[in-house]
Amino acid sequence: MARDTFYTAVDIGTDKVTSIMARVGTEGELKVLGTGVVTSQGMQKGRIENIDEVKEAVRTSLEEAQRYIGTGAPTGVYTSVTGTHLSSLNTKEVVDNPDDVGDITKKLLDRLLRGSFPDVGPNQEVLHVIPIGYHVDGMSGIRNPVGLHGNLVEVEAHVVMGDAVVLKNTVKVIEANKASVKSMVLHSLASAEATLSGDERELGVVLADIGGGTTDIVIYRQGQPWYSAVIPVGGSQLTRDLSVALKTPLYMTEEMKIKWGSVMPDMVAADEEVVIPSFQGQPKHSLSRRILCEPLHERMLELIKLIVLKVRQSGLREFPTAGIVLTGGGAEMTGLTELVQKTLGGQVRIAYPEGIAGLPAQLRKPAFSAAVGLLLWGIKHQGETRSSLNGGRSIMGSKSWRWGLGRKKAAAVR
Ligand SMILES: Nc1ncnc2c1ncn2[C@@H]1O[C@H](COP(=O)(O)OP(=O)(O)OP(=O)(O)O)[C@@H](O)[C@H]1O
Ligand SMILES: [Mg+2]
Repeated sequence: MARDTFYTAVDIGTDKVTSIMARVGTEGELKVLGTGVVTSQGMQKGRIENIDEVKEAVRTSLEEAQRYIGTGAPTGVYTSVTGTHLSSLNTKEVVDNPDDVGDITKKLLDRLLRGSFPDVGPNQEVLHVIPIGYHVDGMSGIRNPVGLHGNLVEVEAHVVMGDAVVLKNTVKVIEANKASVKSMVLHSLASAEATLSGDERELGVVLADIGGGTTDIVIYRQGQPWYSAVIPVGGSQLTRDLSVALKTPLYMTEEMKIKWGSVMPDMVAADEEVVIPSFQGQPKHSLSRRILCEPLHERMLELIKLIVLKVRQSGLREFPTAGIVLTGGGAEMTGLTELVQKTLGGQVRIAYPEGIAGLPAQLRKPAFSAAVGLLLWGIKHQGETRSSLNGGRSIMGSKSWRWGLGRKKAAAVR
């Protein structure tokens, strides 16, 4: 199959909408052609609340990204999804290889994966079915059994599902902008593409993308996504807490959070004072910076505890060997590495998006990991277009499952 030449990512976040257009160069490298970053409107914790506002934000962002490309700009889009409507589970499915066949074929694996589709109701949509590993005649840990001789083949797969209506609204937003959805990708999986090294995935790692409205988690083990979850808390919660504590308006509080905030008040000099500017008739006044940092510390600590809870819910008793990787705008919070290190121990890393040489400086921030990751996902999974949303039976953005009609009930292993 011919490789796509153009890739477009649209990351619709709670805080910002990012569109990136890129093309594959002669050496196979990805070159960014245009970027559009606009303040998000109409989103609440990763969910579309006001569809007209979101359409408008996406329109502005896409227009900005297309500005230097002109008419005829490619319109197939990779977009991210998040929100607490998403759920995940791991499934196991077994198939008998007929005695007279012997060698395991791609066709047999396709049949096996089709069987891995969970039996979702009409309100649910399967987003991803990602094979974690295969067992052949009781031998485990096989990544690609094609060509092996075997009678009994089993696959374990990570399955992600979401609310069909919520997902359909994302499609509507993209299509309202004369574009089409090539694939919807779980936010955390998109971020992982741009941040996690091969070693981290192999050793086992927790990735947490701390966005504005949500924290998106994915755990990799033995190279594959093994658990995913969404926590409805992000950086905007820190801003709101600070705004309540200081009685300052949100726009002003956001600036103060970034300028003076730290989630490790102990690391701030005890005598350091900051000046809160005058607002709404209130005179300017000074405040201990440590006091300003207290509510940020409290909320971030709570978020770390929620991440730990998710790791426990995954079935792990402790953090995997490669520890935790933090990305998303919220990962830029001053003192975060130290606080996570102090609370959890183990390895902690703040990740910036990688994988595209010559990435514009504007995008070289943790907040853009998901948008950059969408492009990388696109390259890896190009040609695997989504099937239409048809009442919870289709599958998008996974390896090569386009038929989307798996109805067999799979056994949840968790
Ligand atoms: N330098 C910084 N220090 C502290 N916080 C920051 C910094 N830069 C951005 N943030 C915070 O990051 C959050 C936004 O992150 P991001 O841009 O990843 O969100 P989003 O992708 O729009 O939202 P979501 O993924 O939750 O839908 C905001 O709460 C913002 O205050
Ligand atoms: Mg985000």
